[in-house]
Amino acid sequence: MGLVYPLPSQQSSVGVREINLEDCLGKTVLVIGSGGREHAIVDALSRSPQVEKIYCAPGNAGIGELAFNVPLKDTDVEGLKAFAQEHEVDLTVVGPEAALAAGIVDAFREAGLKIFGHTQAATAIESSKEFAKELMESAGIPTAAYRSFSDFDDALAYVLSRPFPAVLKYDGLAAGKGVVIAQNESEAHDALSDMLLDHTFGKGRVVVEDFLTGPEFSFLCFVDGERVYPMPLSQDHKRAFDGDKGPNTGGMGAYTGLPFITDEDRAFAYKEIMCKAAAAMCAKGLPLSGVLYGGLMKTPQGIKVIEFNARFGDPETEVVLPLLKSDIYDIFEGVATGKPVAEPVWSEGVTLGVVLASKGYPGHYEKGYEIAGLDQVEAKVYHMGTSVRDGKVSTSGGRVLMVVSGGTDLSDARDRVYAEVGKISCENLFYRKDIAHIAFEK
Ligand code: AMP
Ligand code: GLY
Repeated sequence: MGLVYPLPSQQSSVGVREINLEDCLGKTVLVIGSGGREHAIVDALSRSPQVEKIYCAPGNAGIGELAFNVPLKDTDVEGLKAFAQEHEVDLTVVGPEAALAAGIVDAFREAGLKIFGHTQAATAIESSKEFAKELMESAGIPTAAYRSFSDFDDALAYVLSRPFPAVLKYDGLAAGKGVVIAQNESEAHDALSDMLLDHTFGKGRVVVEDFLTGPEFSFLCFVDGERVYPMPLSQDHKRAFDGDKGPNTGGMGAYTGLPFITDEDRAFAYKEIMCKAAAAMCAKGLPLSGVLYGGLMKTPQGIKVIEFNARFGDPETEVVLPLLKSDIYDIFEGVATGKPVAEPVWSEGVTLGVVLASKGYPGHYEKGYEIAGLDQVEAKVYHMGTSVRDGKVSTSGGRVLMVVSGGTDLSDARDRVYAEVGKISCENLFYRKDIAHIAFEK
C-alpha cells in the first residue's frame, strides 16, 4: 500500500526508437483525481491487459494499492503536464471537473499528449447553467422552462409570475450551494438577493426554472464528437439520511438496474437527450471528448434534463464501471484520439454501493479515525477519503469509503453489500441503510 512513484533518476532511459516500441510495450496511464470515482477508474484500468503502470495524482490510500500515487494537485496543470512528459505517460484520464475547467485538456493537447476529457470551452456544459439551458433549448432537448437574469427585480418578477416552488440556479461555480428551491416569495427574495445583490458567489447571472417532480437518475456516456457510447443507468442518493432526509451530500450510495426505467425510456434518453446534446456541442464547434453525465428526471410529462455534467459521477462510477467487460483503455484512447471504438460490452447483472461517511458530514466532521476490518471484506471497497499512516488506514474526508457488490438482483446485491459493510469497524463512520429503497417499495 502507498506506493511512491519512481523518481526520474530511477527510470530506465529509452534511447532513440527505431521501431515503434510504443506498440509492443505495456501502457502507462495517469489518472487525475483522488476520490472513489478515480479509484473505480484505476480499478477498471488495472483490469486492462494493455496497461502496465498506473499513476494517480494525487490518489488516495486505496488507489495506492493499484497505482503509484503522485503528490500533485488535480488543478496543477503545468506540474501534471511536466510529470506526464517526464514519465512517458501514454494516456491521461481526467476525473474531476475542476481540472477540466482549469484547461488541462487544452494544455496537454498543445503539448502533443493524449488525454481523455473535454476542453475547457466544452466543459461549459457543466460549469455554466445558462450555456447548458441555451444548448438544450436550441437543440430541442426536454428540460424545465427557464429564464436567466442579472437584474434582481426582473428575476423576482419572473419568479412571481410562475407557480412555486421556484428553482434558482446561480450560473457559475458555487461549491454545490448554487441551487435553491424556493417554496415562497420570501425564500425566493432572500436567495435572489444573496445571488444578485450581495454577489455571495461572485458576479454571475441566475437561471430561474420551473420545479419538476419524479425520480432522478444518472445517464453516463462516453462521448467522442457525435459518437455516444452509453453506460448502464444508475441512481445516486443525495440526502444524508434514510428516507431521503437530511442535508444534500455528494452522494451516499448508488445502484444500477433501475426498476422505474423502461427500455423505451432509456432509448428516448439516449437518442433525444444524450445524442442530441453531443450533436449540438459539435454544431457549436465544441465537440465533447470524455464523459457526458445526464442528470435526468422521469417526470409525469416524460424524461427531462435537470443538469449536465462533463465528467464521471461520484458515486455512480463506482457502481457502473465494475460492470464493464470491455477493455477501458481502448475506450479512453479511442475517445481521446477521435477514433471509433467497438461498442462497450457490459455485464447483465446489477450492482449496489453504500458510502460510509464521517459523522457530521456534509457539515463539520473530524478526521484521523482508524478503520479496521477492510481486509475481511469480500466486495469492492473504493476509497473516497482515506489516508495511510504506519500501515494503518484512517479517515481523511467527508465521504470515506464505498462498498460495492454485484448480485443476481437488487435484493441479492443489497444483502451482500450490507453484510460486507458490517465487517468494517470505525467509530466515526455512518451510512444509509436504505440504498435502492425505491426498488423495494410496494
Ligand atoms: P443541479 O445542481 O442543477 O443538479 O441541482 C441540484 C439538485 O436540485 C438536483 O439534483 C435536483 O434534486 C434539484 N433540482 C434542480 N433543478 C430542479 C428542477 N428544475 N426541479 C426539481 N428539482 C430540481
Ligand atoms: N453524483 C453526483 C455527481 O457526481 O455530481
